[in-house]
Amino acid sequence: MSAHGYFSRTGHGDRAIAIDANRTVFGSGALEEVGAHARNLGMKRVGLYTDARVGALPSVATAVRSLSSAGISVSVFDGVEIEPSDRSLKAALDFAEHERFDGFVSVGGGSVIDTCKAVCLYSSYPPADFLDYVNQPLGRALPAPGPLKPHIACPTTFGTASECTSVAIFNFLDLGTKAGISNRAIKPQLGIIDPEALRTLPGPVVAANGMDVFSHAVESYTARPFTQRPAPPDPTARPVIQGANPFSDVNCLEAIRLIGENLFRAVSDPEDFSARENLSFAGLLAGIGFGTAGCNLPHGMSYAVSGLVKSYRAEGWPRDKPLVPHGFAVIVNSPSVFRFMGPVCPQRHAEAARAFAVEVEGRPPGEALASGLIELMRSVGAPNGLGELGYTSEELDALTDKGWKQRRVVDNAARAITREEMRAIFAGAFSYW
Ligand SMILES: [Fe+2]
Repeated sequence: MSAHGYFSRTGHGDRAIAIDANRTVFGSGALEEVGAHARNLGMKRVGLYTDARVGALPSVATAVRSLSSAGISVSVFDGVEIEPSDRSLKAALDFAEHERFDGFVSVGGGSVIDTCKAVCLYSSYPPADFLDYVNQPLGRALPAPGPLKPHIACPTTFGTASECTSVAIFNFLDLGTKAGISNRAIKPQLGIIDPEALRTLPGPVVAANGMDVFSHAVESYTARPFTQRPAPPDPTARPVIQGANPFSDVNCLEAIRLIGENLFRAVSDPEDFSARENLSFAGLLAGIGFGTAGCNLPHGMSYAVSGLVKSYRAEGWPRDKPLVPHGFAVIVNSPSVFRFMGPVCPQRHAEAARAFAVEVEGRPPGEALASGLIELMRSVGAPNGLGELGYTSEELDALTDKGWKQRRVVDNAARAITREEMRAIFAGAFSYW
């Protein structure tokens, strides 16, 4: 691998990357094939998981029809909560226990797919204690004893990449905290991505998810290069987050280009299906990209932004409780991060800006990329920084405390930052126009 400037390896860094390809079927109408794929995986009695909103949309009807015509019996559970909790997970588990499924299909957004991943694990190997599979310190992080029942994930949004990751995130209500299950076994056997599902996606949801995809791509592209992270003692156990690498680069640059060309079109004109199709593909590419490279600061900081919200409610999401949609919690940090990290790896910020069709000549590359993004944020109705989400400078310390704990992603930045620097980046993220 002599391209892409990775050959400045000093002798201490890693020399190779591991690519865990995800089995994916992509294309308009692909959901009609779910029955054939389920049969091929040996399913006879399927639990189809969704939420109440998606359950009423054509995608679920398409999946049920396809499974039934493949001779598979199917029962639908539509009680998954947005921002799933241990309570909604237990309800989903009760349904699986009662019906004795031999396989699972999830149709919905990240919450639905995450819930189904956990249901698949718990129903394949019921744990002695509910927290056995939950990440430490809350749980015991036990590995799965063997292969799970098959699970086909069919996302109806784009960009979360939940269909190709080994992580499921839940709110633990009694403990008032978020916790995850990270377990290689829970990655679905197959993802079916059908852009047809995006036809009914509300404009604000398209905007937020597009922002998330853009940031996945830029964060992976500007992450610490894999040659600068230590080689693992065991070459068969490279981490999921490996840093920027030539494989994720090609995926991410194309995702950035597609977001630049299609996001405004898709948000402003719901009839422009080809724009939505392109966004769906961009989401897949960026998902593959961050699946090997990993995100860095904007995502690390986003958990503080979404976790400390007090009153913000977004149009297009349930308004019964304050909530910052994930894509918006991420993107409010991104321009400030690009301005700060641009000088650390100017070449990469310049390349990302060019892929985004932003003029770079005559100004710092981080600034060029930030200004191109700010223009897009304005045009698609993204919030104008932390200020619009209800934050004031009084909360800078609380935001920094929480963001600082996200070590895995924070340490994946192109250079290590101090706590004071993270505070300064948050301070630069209050208002952009
Ligand atoms: Fe994300």
